Amino acid sequence: MAGDVAAAWTAVERLGRERRPDGSPPWSIRPLFAADPARFARFSRRGGDLLLDFSKTAIDQRALSALLALAEAAGVEAWRDAMARGEAVNATEGRRALHMALRAPQGAVPANGGPEVAAEIQATLARMAAFTRAVHAGAMRSAGGEPFAQVLNIGIGGSDLGPAMAYQALAGPDSPLPVRYLSNVDGHAWRELLPSLDPRRLLVLIASKTFTTQETMANARLVKAWLAEALGGEDRAAQHLVALSSNLSACAAFGIPPERVFAFGDYIGGRFSLWSAIGLSLALGLGWERFAALLAGARRMDEHFLTAPLAENLPVLLALVEVWHVNALGLRRRAVLPYDERLRRLPAHLQQLEMESLGKRVSLAGEPLARHSGPVVFGEPGTSAQHSFMQLLHQGSEPVPADVILIARPDHPWRRQHLILLAHGLAQTEALLSGRDADSLRAEMMRAGAGPAEIERLLPHRVLPGERPSVTILLPRLDPTTLGQLIALYEHKVAVLGALWGINPFDQWGVELGKQLAAPLLEELESGRPDPARHDASTLGLLEEILRLQREA
Ligand code: F6P
Repeated sequence: MAGDVAAAWTAVERLGRERRPDGSPPWSIRPLFAADPARFARFSRRGGDLLLDFSKTAIDQRALSALLALAEAAGVEAWRDAMARGEAVNATEGRRALHMALRAPQGAVPANGGPEVAAEIQATLARMAAFTRAVHAGAMRSAGGEPFAQVLNIGIGGSDLGPAMAYQALAGPDSPLPVRYLSNVDGHAWRELLPSLDPRRLLVLIASKTFTTQETMANARLVKAWLAEALGGEDRAAQHLVALSSNLSACAAFGIPPERVFAFGDYIGGRFSLWSAIGLSLALGLGWERFAALLAGARRMDEHFLTAPLAENLPVLLALVEVWHVNALGLRRRAVLPYDERLRRLPAHLQQLEMESLGKRVSLAGEPLARHSGPVVFGEPGTSAQHSFMQLLHQGSEPVPADVILIARPDHPWRRQHLILLAHGLAQTEALLSGRDADSLRAEMMRAGAGPAEIERLLPHRVLPGERPSVTILLPRLDPTTLGQLIALYEHKVAVLGALWGINPFDQWGVELGKQLAAPLLEELESGRPDPARHDASTLGLLEEILRLQREA
């Protein structure tokens, strides 16, 4: 088995280095289109409502076969099934990864963690639905006896990014309640929100799996004190608080009664948790039916992931494209470009989902990895991205693969705006592929009246090399069902990459050190007395300078 995997990796990596039989370099894409008029059909797949087009990459039939052989040798299907069955695939924390169970219909096979997990999840969903309906109906009221009119979700990382992204994507004029998200501990974030909040009618969700995250708890205390002051006491403030957490004792200690706590098990990772109690802001902000449709959409992708053969399986193929770019071609950055302003928080969600999961340097066995793992992921919605960083994708010194997400039908009446948006999205993928050669540019410049010297001076600057890969994901429209599919597609892609790279995509030990080091620094900032023995010269110097500047004020 290990030998098979090593051989499969060698085959993939060799294809990334060697010229193809027709003499073209392994990274070139244009010759593949020239040689195969059916390339789009051959290198695109449908799953649920989504279309994944990876024909604008340098993957040819030989590369695809080698990548699929790698997926087989690495045991991707067995890993997927073990995750779905509820084995402790998060080995370093001894935990299961059961986010699929959150959206599984009752009695789903594989068992997604067994009947106790299913019962726990169904019970929480039922409580969330009842709570949501009670809030919307005005049966659940504020301390002053008024219906709640606004929701504030306090959370960070997975307790913020997924719900905030989905709310941004799906909220519209008919949404039942406006939701605001407070994430950063920066007081400026709170100050920015304050004018839009009415404490008398505000329902506050404290979203934290651990209920110990310093930033979230500091914001929760700040908001609780503000509520208490505005409403006339802590008891009255408590009537506005809800906790979304797996740490029930900490919720109780914070003063939130059990009937206001919505729990989820430690088998749900933060960045996979928007489908759990952590998604309550979505249920409140979008309505229960739309939240349920989001779960159903994710389930649709789960079913595809669990049953489609590797060669047809969208998450597997998306993961294999990443392996091709990172490991065969050495491209260790990727841009995410949703051509839909409603998806403007998607890059932020994917940054956490992918980089917190795949930013690992040792294998499950604790050995240094033999090859690179997760790439840097960044993004911005199109067309805005075109006017910021796309220059680098077109002419930078190395290619950066892009995921371009297109939505066929808009939910607004301005047809021409949408057609312009789509034209630009398609044009970017076309420009990345085709580039602009010197001959056609020369002709164009001559037609525009430029002289020969001027043309030759400018040509090198104006040529676009092309041959830059992109993957396009096409959705018929953006609604809860398709968004659920899209997010689950990326979740499963991450899990598949964990199996391919042999890493644990469900832990995040790397973020702990900074949290530990912040504690003594906070003490020193509070006391105004830095401890030179504790710090390197730079940190000490900065600390002293900050204290000096603060004293000056
Ligand atoms: O610090 C990283 C992290 O642990 C994320 O994995 C998680 O989503 C985030 O912090 C928030 O954690 P919690 O929900 O426990 O407050």
